[in-house]
Amino acid sequence: MNYKTIKDISFKGQVVLVRVDYNVPMKNGKITDDLRIRASLPTLQFLRDGGAKKIILISHLGRPEGRDKSLSLKPVATQLGKLISDVSFVDDVSGPDVEEAVERVGKGGILLLENLRFYPGEEKNSDDFIREIIDATGAEVFVQDGFAVVHRAHASTNAVANHLPVYAGLLLEKEIVNLSKVTEKPDRPLLLIIGGAKVDDKQPLIEKFEKLADQIVVGGKIAADGYKGSGKIFVADDFDEDGEGNRLDVGPLSTGKIAGYIADAKTIIWNGLMGKAEDPAYSTASTIVAEMMGEKLGAETVVCGGDTTGFVENLVKEHPNLQYSLISTGGGAALEFLLGKELPGIAVLEAK
Ligand code: 3PG
Repeated sequence: MNYKTIKDISFKGQVVLVRVDYNVPMKNGKITDDLRIRASLPTLQFLRDGGAKKIILISHLGRPEGRDKSLSLKPVATQLGKLISDVSFVDDVSGPDVEEAVERVGKGGILLLENLRFYPGEEKNSDDFIREIIDATGAEVFVQDGFAVVHRAHASTNAVANHLPVYAGLLLEKEIVNLSKVTEKPDRPLLLIIGGAKVDDKQPLIEKFEKLADQIVVGGKIAADGYKGSGKIFVADDFDEDGEGNRLDVGPLSTGKIAGYIADAKTIIWNGLMGKAEDPAYSTASTIVAEMMGEKLGAETVVCGGDTTGFVENLVKEHPNLQYSLISTGGGAALEFLLGKELPGIAVLEAK
């Protein structure tokens, strides 16, 4: 892939507009998983260390229809401020309030604007909308670091490239490099582990990897519901059940077989939990997969899908020795990337 990253130019003295994806899960106004916020820190620190004058962050949160207080990015700014210094927030994306807020930002300071999706121009990929943001912030250069949203052709992922020079941030680069590695020139054996509940979401990936992978494993509710696989697809066939006979986790025999595939593999992609892992009683198979992958140093190990990455992140908190090549921040974006689709937010970087 041919695109420029923030390592290719100097930002010294410039106002930098950065698209991040802070679409984080929230419950009662509290962030329940801040992976996407933490994943943006290397780029922010890099820009600050490189002498950027001001760093203006833009993001969406949820799928609001118009302004919706419960989907304000303000709590995200508070969380970001706990992880990196000098963060402020303004509850608009353009106009006088934003101009004043930008004015107040000190050297290398960070300003997060309000949820882009409060305004119809974002999803309409509107040139006028992104122009207003650029004019109000005085942005001179654009950095795309919101990997999780590059599959959308929105003003902050696509139209923006008509107005500013565009560069990839460090998170975007890390996602692209690792996801390309597993699809383009994987070390073999290549193993795909699929779980979760929605077979329709996973079927395209299974079909694509039937050609690419050496082995595919299907667990989770998909397997429990009777998924039929043949050839290189192993479908879990014993399960831990609750008192009513509901199959809630992959059982020990299948887990043993999956462990054997993991032990042999040199490249592993995992998408979808093996069971109802939010309940510790049914998290055994997922824990074994996560631990075995995290202990396979030297192998390429990619974890994707919100539930799966959340599970792995929690496990890493307890066992910091577990390491992965990539815990992807992209849900739909990672899937589309793995399927080889063109992503509008990456296409504009390559076009430059
Ligand atoms: C995601 O969570 O997958 C991204 O933030 C994109 O969100 P969307 O599906 O609402 O466009």
